[in-house]
Amino acid sequence: MNHSVVVTGGAGFLGSHLCDRLVDRGDDVVCVDNLFTGSKDNIRHLLSNDRFEFKRHDITFPLYLELDRIFNLACPASPIHYQHDPVQTTKTSVHGAINVLGLAKRVGARILQASTSEVYGDPVIHPQTEDYWGNVNPIGIRSCYDEGKRCAETLFFDYHRQHKVDIKVVRIFNTYGPRMHPNDGRVVSNFIVQAIKGEDITIFGDGLQTRSFCYVDDLIEAMLRMMETETGTTGPINIGNPGEYTMLELAETVLRLSGSNSRLVKRPLPPDDPKQRQPNISMARSMLGWEPTISLEDGLAPTIDYFKRLLKV
Ligand SMILES: NC(=O)c1ccc[n+]([C@@H]2O[C@H](COP(=O)([O-])OP(=O)(O)OC[C@H]3O[C@@H](n4cnc5c(N)ncnc54)[C@H](O)[C@@H]3O)[C@@H](O)[C@H]2O)c1
Repeated sequence: MNHSVVVTGGAGFLGSHLCDRLVDRGDDVVCVDNLFTGSKDNIRHLLSNDRFEFKRHDITFPLYLELDRIFNLACPASPIHYQHDPVQTTKTSVHGAINVLGLAKRVGARILQASTSEVYGDPVIHPQTEDYWGNVNPIGIRSCYDEGKRCAETLFFDYHRQHKVDIKVVRIFNTYGPRMHPNDGRVVSNFIVQAIKGEDITIFGDGLQTRSFCYVDDLIEAMLRMMETETGTTGPINIGNPGEYTMLELAETVLRLSGSNSRLVKRPLPPDDPKQRQPNISMARSMLGWEPTISLEDGLAPTIDYFKRLLKV
């Protein structure tokens, strides 16, 4: 069955890949984005497709559309972007959630929230399971994002309990791939851009803090599967790649794959930077029959190619 789908944040990194998949499978897609961090370049190839429509709109204001599926991805995702205007970041998560949930309630649509592993903060449980409540600083410089996303989850579950809205919540762990922003301060894009420009690679702290990295195609597959689970399967559900790498291992892999001679240089760790972050994806494995299939090396190669084309290096 074809769906009429709204993707908020559809001109961003993840959103544009999601729009690609939805259009490919025959859905009618409205991409709603204020282009704060997104770009028409990410969706330019879709603009001439009859099944795709772009609507420039800020989701902190109500929106009125006819549809049966909503993927809510609108929110700047990298610290540089979400700390640029922290009040707007919280508004995007909180007022944005109220607006898209109100829309879902009005038209009886199913709605999926792109939440984040940041709801776990600096976790004391490792790896993180969905029943862990997190360890989040409510007043730090990351709080506009972390607490905004936590409040959005609260709103999703209250609209579900109170208004019977058909919700799905996925908690996304670090994801990378083509169409990431080149200057967003996230570790994969940072390392690749520094490596292909021959600049020093910046390692924060001792480089032994770990992260897990999921390739975008794997992530989108999990989001699509979660959206089509039966009503009442709400999540929250972790999606990410449990493979764990230190920053030093990541840097060395990027150097090798890009054929770069850049040097590694160490800088002080920013405040509230989690030491470890790794998803437990048992729930995704059993409920969605899903697990990542693309290795770090196989995902980094097209990502490095993308940045080389983008930066004409
Ligand atoms: N990429 C990751 O590793 C990751 C990890 C966890 C969660 N997420 C979540 O997934 C979603 C997409 O992330 P991304 O990496 O594609 O980031 P992104 O910055 O590329 O995309 C976010 C999109 O939302 C749009 N946007 C921002 N504020 C808006 C507003 N008020 N109204 C309308 N549009 C607005 C931006 O212009 C952009 O196109 C975000 O909600 C993010 O929190 C991403």
